[in-house]
Amino acid sequence: MAPALVETPQPVPSVAYTKSGTGEYKEAFIGGPKAFNADAELKGEGTKQPPAKYPNYLPVWDNEKEKYPPLQPFEHYEHGKDADPTFPNLLNGAEVSDLTANIGAEVRGVQLSKLTDKGKDELALFVAQKKVVAFRDQDLADLPIQEALDFGGYFGRHHIHPTSGAPKGYPEIHLVHRGADDTTARDFFEERTNSVTWHSDVTYEKQPPGTTFLYLLDGPAAGGDTLFVNQAEAYRRLSPEFRKRLHGLKVVHSAVEQADNSKTRGGVVRRDPVTSVHPLVRTHPATGEKALFVNPQFSRRILGFKKEESDFLLNFLYDHIAKGQDFQARVKWAPGTVVVWDNRVTAHSALLDWDDGARRHLARITPQAEAPFETPFEG
Ligand SMILES: [Fe+2]
Repeated sequence: MAPALVETPQPVPSVAYTKSGTGEYKEAFIGGPKAFNADAELKGEGTKQPPAKYPNYLPVWDNEKEKYPPLQPFEHYEHGKDADPTFPNLLNGAEVSDLTANIGAEVRGVQLSKLTDKGKDELALFVAQKKVVAFRDQDLADLPIQEALDFGGYFGRHHIHPTSGAPKGYPEIHLVHRGADDTTARDFFEERTNSVTWHSDVTYEKQPPGTTFLYLLDGPAAGGDTLFVNQAEAYRRLSPEFRKRLHGLKVVHSAVEQADNSKTRGGVVRRDPVTSVHPLVRTHPATGEKALFVNPQFSRRILGFKKEESDFLLNFLYDHIAKGQDFQARVKWAPGTVVVWDNRVTAHSALLDWDDGARRHLARITPQAEAPFETPFEG
C-alpha cells in the first residue's frame, strides 16, 4: 500500500501565546459607526469641508445580517510566476521612476483597469520586485465598484475584513475613512506620541493577502502619507548567522485585539477572530525572495520560546524594521492614485498627521494569497 500523504499539523497556540506577547495592537484610527456623520459626509452640512467626492464609497457596517463562518482554505494561483520579466504588456510607453534605491516606484502612463491578463501577470511580478508602486492618474475609483472588484479578483480571492466599514452592497471593499472635521487625531495624541503602526494587512488569516490595491477617494492636501518597508531587504540586512537562527521559527498572529477594539468602539465583528501560525521568514512564490514576516500589530509570540525570549527577539525585529529608513519609502497620495503593494514582502503604516478636518477616504481591494511558506536557509 502506498504511504498516505500526511500534512504536518499546524501547532495550536495556547491562550497564553496569544494574550501575552510583546506586540501591541495600536488603534490609531478610531473612526467606526459611532464617529460616522452621514450629513457631514453626504452634504457637507455642519462642516467647512465639502461633501464626499465618492458617496457610493461611504461606509456602512450592516452589509450582512449574520456573522460570516470561518474562512475556508483555497488554492491560490500566483500570476506573477507567468509574467514576462521584461514587462512588455505593463510598462510599454510608461514613465517609471524609483522612489528609492531598494523599495518603491512611481508609474505614469499606464491605466491599470485596461490591462490584459498578461499585463496583470506582469503587474503582480513588478510589484513583488518593487514592493510598492504608486500608479498615478488612474480611473479605478470612477468605475462602478463591481468593475473595480472584477479587476482585483484576478489576483486572488477577495478578503472580507472582519471589522471595517464597506460600501453598501460591497463587503469585499475595505474602507479607510476618517470623516470631515473628525477630531480623533487630537484625542489620540492626548495619549500617544506618534501614530506609527507598522503592519502587513490581516496577517492573522491563514492565507494573508498578496498583491494589494489601495486607492484614494478623498484626502487632505498635505498629510496622510503611507510608509512602506521592504521586509526582504530587512531580512538581508541581518547577518548570515542571525538569519540562520530565524529560519524554522514560527510566530502566532492574532485577530483578537482588533476585534476587541472594534467592539469597544461600537463597531462590528463579522467573523470570529482567529489566530494563525506562520513562519517568521517566508519565501515569495514568484521571486523566491525571503522576507521577514512579523509585525507588532498582529504578531504575538514565537512558538517554543519562553515569553521573555520571544519578546526579546520580536522587539529586536520590530526595532530593526521601524528604524530601517534605508529600506523604507514614503508614498504621497494624490487624486487618481492607486498604490499597489505586495503584502507578503512589505509592511506599512498610515500616519495620522493632519489636523485641519480634511476628510481622508480610501478603498482597498485585498486579494488573499497562499499560506506563507518557508524555504531553507541559504548562506
Ligand atoms: Fe494596512
